[in-house]
Amino acid sequence: MDGQGKCRNIVIVGFMGTGKSTVSRILSERLGWERIDTDEEIERRAGKSIPQIFAEDGEASFRDWESRVLTDVLSGSGKVVATGGGAVLRESNRQVMLAGGWVVALTADKDSLIKRVMSSAASGTRPLLAGDAEARVTALLESRRRAYDFAQATIDTSRLSPADVANMMLNWMQ
Ligand code: S3P
Repeated sequence: MDGQGKCRNIVIVGFMGTGKSTVSRILSERLGWERIDTDEEIERRAGKSIPQIFAEDGEASFRDWESRVLTDVLSGSGKVVATGGGAVLRESNRQVMLAGGWVVALTADKDSLIKRVMSSAASGTRPLLAGDAEARVTALLESRRRAYDFAQATIDTSRLSPADVANMMLNWMQ
């Protein structure tokens, strides 16, 4: 884990429900670094919500937004960047992340993930979980089984609070 103490940015990757956004908030407060959530940034730039982008423009358009936003935000420094769960799917995105900062993957076991994403699945804010959310999580987890392995560090959040996770990361950075 060499170099993260002087890393330009922190990039948090992981499946939906692993706590990326909450952990990024804590880290940005503790470090005094700017927080960017790529999903929020896409919504701001596109002028519409993620469910709207998926419904009106399709997932491919969302993925293009995601790549553009990642490249832009990681060209700077001093940022804590929480990414969407699928941002790791493109090789070019993975390269941009590794070149732009210290990449940390958050994971969690399936039961914890299902519990955490149930309400967002029901409210429709996570379009990939529409329908039978449990079945969707199971299928997506399977298809993304190795997708987060490129990260430089991995934390299993199943039994940790977001504050615990942030503390672990801060300790590693010292
Ligand atoms: C997605 C995860 C979401 C969001 C979009 C697609 C994915 O972000 O980017 O709904 O492909 O896993 P979160 O991981 O923050 O929920």
